[in-house]
Amino acid sequence: MATKRKRPLNLVVTAGPTREYIDPVRYLSNESSGKMGFAIATEAVKRGHKVTLIAGPVHLETPAGVNRVDVISARDMLAAMKTAFRDGDGLIMAAAVADYRPARKLKGKWKKDPSKKGGGVDLPLVENPDLLATVGARKGSRCIMGFALETSNGMRNALGKMQRKNADFIALNGASALNANTTSVTLIGRDGSTQEMLEKSKKYVARRLVMAVEGWRAHA
Ligand code: CTP
Repeated sequence: MATKRKRPLNLVVTAGPTREYIDPVRYLSNESSGKMGFAIATEAVKRGHKVTLIAGPVHLETPAGVNRVDVISARDMLAAMKTAFRDGDGLIMAAAVADYRPARKLKGKWKKDPSKKGGGVDLPLVENPDLLATVGARKGSRCIMGFALETSNGMRNALGKMQRKNADFIALNGASALNANTTSVTLIGRDGSTQEMLEKSKKYVARRLVMAVEGWRAHA
């Protein structure tokens, strides 16, 4: 008997860091390479899904078959996510979004203040929007997966993030995942389920995460 072919999903995947400019040549950012998000996009296309990959500034080639949207800041990423998720079935939020940005971007280069020689300077920051929570609040029956990078109290913090951001899954990992080719992830489902992936390639983890979104739809 022929197996029933599943409808392809329309997935939005975010990847990489965001960059928050202080002046035309300086910015705040983080160590994210984008590898996890790009691996997710690659595996999702291989599994027959339509993928919009929203990427912060990274040095990675666009995976074949993926619709890539490049962004710089957290606020750019949010705008791109809102547009792409209008027709989306699922969002996998692998980007490492900067929590804060400079309160204002200077038009010209920030010059040293000779009167403060040897002293400290202040850089006022304001909080960026929480992208996942913003989209999560209006997700309806669609599937949302977030990541949690934790250095302590991982499970408790991840569950808190799942709640606050209205996520259906949280992929919990440690700082060793940053810029690496392998990663250890605990995938936590809203139903309390957990899947452990220890020191696996990002390709392997990516496939399992996409499969979790596929499976979630089956129960929706
Ligand atoms: N995230 C987001 N918008 C932000 C910060 C984070 O959408 N402004 C997303 C990340 O992409 C990730 C999830 O939220 O999928 C958790 O990110 P993380 O940095 O672990 O948590 P934070 O909410 O930033 O909390 P904290 O930094 O206090 O751990």
